[in-house]
Amino acid sequence: MIPVFEPMIGETEIEYVTDALRRGEISGNFGTYLDRFEKGFAAYCGCKHGIAVTSGTTALHLAVDAARIGAGDEVLISASTNIATALGVYHNGGLPVPVDSENVTWNLDLELVESLITPRTKAIIPVHLFGHPVDMDHLMEIATRHNIIVIEDCAESHGATVRGRMTGSFGDMACYSFYANKVITTGEGGMVTTNDDQLAERLRLLRNLGFTKPRFRHDVAGYNFRMTSYQAAMGLAQLEKIDTIIAEKRRVAATYNSLLADVPGLRLPVELNWAKNVYWMYALTVEPDFGSTRDELASKLAQAGVETRTFFCPMNRQPVFKELPGFRADNCPVADRLWETGLYLPSSPTLSDKKLEFVRDAIVVARN
Ligand SMILES: Cc1ncc(COP(=O)(O)O)c(C=O)c1O
Repeated sequence: MIPVFEPMIGETEIEYVTDALRRGEISGNFGTYLDRFEKGFAAYCGCKHGIAVTSGTTALHLAVDAARIGAGDEVLISASTNIATALGVYHNGGLPVPVDSENVTWNLDLELVESLITPRTKAIIPVHLFGHPVDMDHLMEIATRHNIIVIEDCAESHGATVRGRMTGSFGDMACYSFYANKVITTGEGGMVTTNDDQLAERLRLLRNLGFTKPRFRHDVAGYNFRMTSYQAAMGLAQLEKIDTIIAEKRRVAATYNSLLADVPGLRLPVELNWAKNVYWMYALTVEPDFGSTRDELASKLAQAGVETRTFFCPMNRQPVFKELPGFRADNCPVADRLWETGLYLPSSPTLSDKKLEFVRDAIVVARN
């Protein structure tokens, strides 16, 4: 089976993790790896501060809390996303408000944002879906005009840029995931980045149970979202090769683009002229003229030994939110359609041309 994703783990990761263990760097408070990873990753993203946490999900939870979003607050989020984006809002008592996708990059439709803003709208969480950035210059202009907080969900966009500027460096905060299938990985893990000194201080406080002085007397209800030092050691090794990983992901995408260009009925991912897409996953949609449905294609590919995944079930369709008082399950026809027709292909940076050709051939056979 060609898996959807395999991380690029090499000798340096083994060396750094072993070194952390040998030095007794078990939790984050001891040793240097955590600090080096936080500083190094934040600098890579064009941000002043990095606060490493246990996952992308807890990064979002922490960022929403740090922004003091709670009961009565509405937060606009991309409809087409991993549920973690909405859960960060939900678990803080806020109301996630899905924004439909646009048809080209599949990111949230910036033309719809203003119509969804109400006096209760406190923040917006744009997701840079599958590695293609949202036009953050445009989004920041809207957010600034309406005085709303911006938390970028960069779980899928490490290294993606907008007019040469890193995703994650535009908003008030940005949240990253280092889960096994992400651009770089620590197994499980995440980070919040920010340029704001006060937010950074609050993020660190909340991450660490709200510990202040005197010790064991707490003014705020924090969390234990701390990353371990040996995970940070792995992250540092991954960070050293992030440019190579992204270059390989872009090679995989370019190869798929040329192999699949002539296959009728597939809509391939784009890279707009102001954007650098890191192609976290090579995602496409199966159109009516393909001849079989997305599900038929996925099952034929599975039989041929090619693993795939569907796009996300959009937030407006999530049963878990349906009963939320005030939940606006407004029509999100584009995100709904992406959920029915979207599929992503094996996207490991290590995939050889031969394997990519195998995937193309399996798609062509499935079509016939
Ligand atoms: C857009 C998005 N946000 C958040 C997350 C959550 O990250 P994690 O799995 O590290 O909790 C993910 C992925 O898993 C994601 O794709």
